[in-house]
Amino acid sequence: GRHLLGIEPLHPTEITTLLDLADSYVDLNRRSKKRSDVLAGLTQINMFFENSTRTQASFELAGKRLGADVMNMAMQASSIKKGETLIDTAMTLNAMHPDLLVVRHPHSGAVDLLAQKVNCAVLNAGDGRHEHPTQALLDALTIRRAKGRLHRLNIAICGDIAHSRVARSNILLLGKMENRVRLVGPPTLIPGPMKDLGVEVYDDMREGIAGCDVVMMLRLQKERMDGGFIPSEREYYHRYGLDAEKLSCAKPDAIVMHPGPMNRGVEIDGTLADDINRSVIQEQVEMGVAVRMAAMDLLARNLRAEAA
Ligand code: CP
Repeated sequence: GRHLLGIEPLHPTEITTLLDLADSYVDLNRRSKKRSDVLAGLTQINMFFENSTRTQASFELAGKRLGADVMNMAMQASSIKKGETLIDTAMTLNAMHPDLLVVRHPHSGAVDLLAQKVNCAVLNAGDGRHEHPTQALLDALTIRRAKGRLHRLNIAICGDIAHSRVARSNILLLGKMENRVRLVGPPTLIPGPMKDLGVEVYDDMREGIAGCDVVMMLRLQKERMDGGFIPSEREYYHRYGLDAEKLSCAKPDAIVMHPGPMNRGVEIDGTLADDINRSVIQEQVEMGVAVRMAAMDLLARNLRAEAA
């Protein structure tokens, strides 16, 4: 397609193609950080209406390593502050002829709406609670490299599922690739409709992660708990925080993942997060650059095919 808005419309073969290309970019990034020219002559604009460390930095590096002209819009300093709407802002930038727009926005559906208005390729860098497709793709690449496959694995996604676009995109992707996905967390943080996505739901951590190959932890997203129930951090850590003792219920070679940003001592024990024998959190960040290079490379090929 022209855009990367979510995992939902992707076919399993498209996911595999993207991960294969991303694998080659992991090798390239390790060998040398020299520029390639697959995005030469293209302009990439990053528009982040919500805070980011990993996604913003890796999209910027990915564009630069592929030779694009990359511009980061400082949205806090933009005319949004003067009342300009998202769509007017997007149309203004569109008139400057970008080729790739990378957008993060606090509202679910905002990035899809924007994509309908502009002429360039749009990449969703996270919209509200809806989707974060490049995160699910980098998680998939991390799992595939650690486990040697991306099918018939038992994967537990634990914590604040309700507010998590990362959980939603991962459930969709891992389901398409025929894995067994379990959701583990307090019932108040696992919304009913998630249960229709073909997953098993647990509210006990030890039961939920028993026999799992992968344990993916999520952050408590207090900024999205507008007025709702906010659990106490101490109680939450006791029941749902991952430490070595709870992890011993998973398979002996189970890997621990976290998309970041993590809150040590809330959803995960800091020592476990740093244990390079179990935690692949730093690999996830490394895969993030490669996956974003692959995504923009593939979209640029489509743009060129359209123009030809
Ligand atoms: N995982 C993730 O999206 O992190 P950032 O919010 O730092 O980009």
